[in-house]
Amino acid sequence: MRFPDDFLWGTATASYQIEGAVDEGGRGPSIWDTFSHTPGKIYRGDTGDIACDHYHRLEEDLDLMADLGLQAYRFSVSWPRVQPDGSGKVNQEGLDFYRRLVDGLLQRDITPMITLYHWDLPQALEDRGGWTNRETSERFAEYTGIVYEALSDAVPFWITLNEPWVASWLGHGYGLHAPGKQDPASALAATHHLLLGHGLALERMRSAGRDNQLGVTLNLHPALAARDRGADEEAARRVDGQANRLYLDPLFHGEYPGDLISYYRERGVEGPPVGDGDLERISASVDFLGINYYFCHHVRDAPDEAPSQIPFSDLSVRTIVPHAAEKTAMGWPVEPDGLAEMLVRLKEEYTDSPIYVTENGRAVHDYADPNGDVKDEERISYLDAHFRAVRGAMDQGVDLRGYMVWSFLDNYEWAEGYSKRFGLVYVDYATQKRIPKSSARWYSEVIKRNGPDN
Ligand code: FCB
Repeated sequence: MRFPDDFLWGTATASYQIEGAVDEGGRGPSIWDTFSHTPGKIYRGDTGDIACDHYHRLEEDLDLMADLGLQAYRFSVSWPRVQPDGSGKVNQEGLDFYRRLVDGLLQRDITPMITLYHWDLPQALEDRGGWTNRETSERFAEYTGIVYEALSDAVPFWITLNEPWVASWLGHGYGLHAPGKQDPASALAATHHLLLGHGLALERMRSAGRDNQLGVTLNLHPALAARDRGADEEAARRVDGQANRLYLDPLFHGEYPGDLISYYRERGVEGPPVGDGDLERISASVDFLGINYYFCHHVRDAPDEAPSQIPFSDLSVRTIVPHAAEKTAMGWPVEPDGLAEMLVRLKEEYTDSPIYVTENGRAVHDYADPNGDVKDEERISYLDAHFRAVRGAMDQGVDLRGYMVWSFLDNYEWAEGYSKRFGLVYVDYATQKRIPKSSARWYSEVIKRNGPDN
């Protein structure tokens, strides 16, 4: 079970989920500050105001990464820390924070991987329509240029967007994430402007002429018919259209999936607002694709389903969790084969570009026992099974170059607040004490051996 010598093992986080210090260092408000402070949106009303206090505990967290022997660290830059209003004035203090982070990683021999957009849009841009407004794509490219100029000498990996499906559909279609809209036409507009933003940002970075690896991260989920029936297969295809092909097709084939767009048009929903030349920009080649994988969608046709806050309900489907599946604390089924299947499909249908798993992991009902230990055997077996699954896909020719476990620390899990723990390291939020879980120690050994044990 050895991996290639230069395989990169790391972990991932995102700015709003760990940094805290939302009013410090010149940071402006983001849509997640607004959303998390809106009563009724987040479990127990949790906010990211303090989160893991990573902004103040940077050195300690870097030392912990080094102790664990991590080879790479994927983190996101908070746009409103760099540009408090989302345009114009640059906040040097924000850039300085990320410079300290990047330098601290390099000093410890940890490769930095930057995500430019992990959902914390400056509120000032949302006030002008956010991702439903085409101007936001240009503002994103401008912001990318600022961060790239400041850090591209030291950061080899650049990811434009994290999970545009989540930002578009949970944020604009189903209302479960910021900015909380419930309107499919807005979700399609947001999709297009996010992808266009990716294309423009890519152009901006390429024009700097540096030899860095530039890519984008999608959350991909195989969509499977829940029962062996034609109607469920068609329903699964609709979900595949929205969850996967709506992003893969424009990025790699330069077109939107016709079946999905017609489905919405037939129901009076405007398609993505595509301008001249947009799809050429969106489909410009990337140096790598990042994939975040958690589970498969098991889909039933449900013609009478009322559109609501439930993802995909507007596609006349219901997704179910297989009764027999092991479930995580999120209620997500554990399905390592789905990851291998998706990797092989990407190679067959979309791209020969190198791939990185930029997130994978599970939530566990973790707790510190009376000795202060956190024993998360479920997380170890989950990761072990997924590592083995991707190794199998690599034997089938998939060019997988690295794996970022979600997550380094327990953190703010969006609408679930602090109730869901994904970290290799436990965070006691009352004291901000970090406790490496059993899985953290185990992962260190995996990294040393360059693969899970036989
Ligand atoms: C992904 C997000 C990440 C985290 C994990 C559990 O959708 O990118 O921030 O919340 O899920």
